[in-house]
Amino acid sequence: MTQFTVNGEAVESGAPPETALLWVLREHLGLTGTKFGCGAGMCGTCTVHLDGQPAFSCLTQVGDVAGREVTTIEGLSADGDHPLQRAWVAEQVPQCGYCQSGQIMRAAALLNESPDADEGEIREAMSMNLCRCGTYNRIVRAVQRAAREA
Ligand code: FES
Ligand code: FES
Repeated sequence: MTQFTVNGEAVESGAPPETALLWVLREHLGLTGTKFGCGAGMCGTCTVHLDGQPAFSCLTQVGDVAGREVTTIEGLSADGDHPLQRAWVAEQVPQCGYCQSGQIMRAAALLNESPDADEGEIREAMSMNLCRCGTYNRIVRAVQRAAREA
């Protein structure tokens, strides 16, 4: 049994310790905001925060999060009013939307570390997350807006 915290709540998982955190979040805890993309640490679609740092939940084994704190898109804000979420709406970032929860979690970790990140730093950090719809420029504008308005 692995005990850890998800979005501020204590949870426990009886899944084998090598199970990907992604599957525990989606299949056992019903937190389907975190998406499966490549399953290989290549696309960033599955990005969550682990003790405040961005992590690929497809590569993270649930046994390795014992006693740690996981935050998913569902836990980023109580009612979707995180500055990034407001900025995402204002800049109309999503196209199909599939990659966007991972994008927002990556951006949130960036702004926590570097609230004054410039465009180059934003592009560098966000390069870990792919978008098959090509929304990259809107993502940058939204991160800049969130940084201004936070
Ligand atoms: S699904 Fe995890 S990095 Fe692609
Ligand atoms: S909005 Fe479609 S994959 Fe990014």
